[in-house]
Amino acid sequence: KQIRETFSTLDPKDLQSVEKIRVEYLGRNGYLTKLFDDFKNIPNEKKKEVGKILNQLKSEITDKIETWKNVFSESTKPKGTNLDLSLEEYPFEFGTRHPISLVKNELVEIFKYLGFTVYEGPEIEDDWHVFSALNFPEEHPARDMQDTFFIEKKPDILLRTHTSSVQVRSMEKEKLPIRVICPGRVFRNEAISARAHCIFHQIEGLYIDKDVSFADLKQTLLYFAKEMFGSETKIRLRPSYFPFTEPSAEMDVSCKLCGGKGCSVCKYTGWLEVLGCGMVDPNVLELNGIDSKIYSGFAFGMGLERIAMLKYQVRDLRLYFENDVRFLKQFKNY
Ligand code: PHE
Repeated sequence: KQIRETFSTLDPKDLQSVEKIRVEYLGRNGYLTKLFDDFKNIPNEKKKEVGKILNQLKSEITDKIETWKNVFSESTKPKGTNLDLSLEEYPFEFGTRHPISLVKNELVEIFKYLGFTVYEGPEIEDDWHVFSALNFPEEHPARDMQDTFFIEKKPDILLRTHTSSVQVRSMEKEKLPIRVICPGRVFRNEAISARAHCIFHQIEGLYIDKDVSFADLKQTLLYFAKEMFGSETKIRLRPSYFPFTEPSAEMDVSCKLCGGKGCSVCKYTGWLEVLGCGMVDPNVLELNGIDSKIYSGFAFGMGLERIAMLKYQVRDLRLYFENDVRFLKQFKNY
């Protein structure tokens, strides 16, 4: 009883003191060992009872010592116990996300909320996916050498000039309804300047279902504009032309800088052009094996550099491709 009591008050702080306790209790001259030595002097009729008590005490003490050992031994020691908090931090800086990635991620999040999923496709394409399946007439200027980088002629292998090609691929593969956004790099044969580049990024969206209307398109774009540029943002749709949409429109957002009053950024119009859109031309649906009497859809497409320009006020396109750290570093807090 006494041994149990004193043992229960013990509270070792490290492996060494645990070992000391072990020797004190279980060692060759330990308290418990001595008790066991005395066992032979116990009268026979009491041996059973006393033996039981002794064995129990021994296993209690052995277990406790084992537990202590585990707690203090190196291998089970919690990581970081040896941390030296007075050490200097590592001398490297974390990188920053590229503004185009920032804009892309933000767009993906916004459209995810409306049920759009990301759909990706190849950058090297054929004539069918980039032009023919999208209702481009045979002699359309976009097919011209001036715009398109051809890798091979007849059959035409080329670098995609827009990610509408990925929309074609989604119509080819996916079951209806389709609700996708297609981010990616696109290529156009243009002289590089502050306002144009031979490579840039797009996100295009496609929604095909029964009873999709122009009102659905407008509401989707209004939601996007408010999320992207602020809740006070207004949109305006101007009639336009694309071979794959009918009717087609271009969307402007109200200029945030002047609040629509007119400034040098919006060229004193109060509006900034951000994207092209429209109702998917029934010809495109039919070309892609979708019954245009049952289904309708809308599509839209925008340049990410353009959105980034409006969002971050960076007006020279070339900066997005040079990867100058002095430029990239400025996006640390976004
Ligand atoms: N594909 C068009 C472009 O590259 C953008 C667009 C997409 C327009 C979808 C209308 C509908 O300019």
